[in-house]
Amino acid sequence: MLYAQNCSACHQTGGNGIVGAFPALARNTFVVGDPLAVARTVMDGRGGMPSFRSSLTDEQMGLIINYIRGSWGNRAVPIMPATFAKARGGTLPREVRSQVH
Ligand code: HEC
Repeated sequence: MLYAQNCSACHQTGGNGIVGAFPALARNTFVVGDPLAVARTVMDGRGGMPSFRSSLTDEQMGLIINYIRGSWGNRAVPIMPATFAKARGGTLPREVRSQVH
């Protein structure tokens, strides 16, 4: 399972994280909030969290994010594929972006 393979070492199987080290994803308002902010966090990492930009496809990140947004009492609308396109494009410098598209 993608969450188990990529995320649970830090955020734990039950989504409770480890106090003082890894934030809980269960009952977390950021996780159920703005989908673009969540996509950017997973794509680019933050603080002690690695980037998954090159190791996961948009589809895989979508499956994982929909899983964390719908598990452990979390309830949020599914994330859309277009959000990943935006997250990928948004952090590339403009010169690079014009070559990609
Ligand atoms: C090596 C440990 C590690 C792994 C693996 C990891 N994370 Fe994280 N994650 C962190 C840390 C540390 C933070 C807190 C970063 C900060 O803001 O300082 C974090 C933050 C987050 C946040 C933001 C939480 C908030 O309240 O702001 C989300 C969402 C998240 N991780 C999801 C994931 C997902 C999904 C995966 C798997 C694809 C994953 N993480 C894999 C360590 C990890």
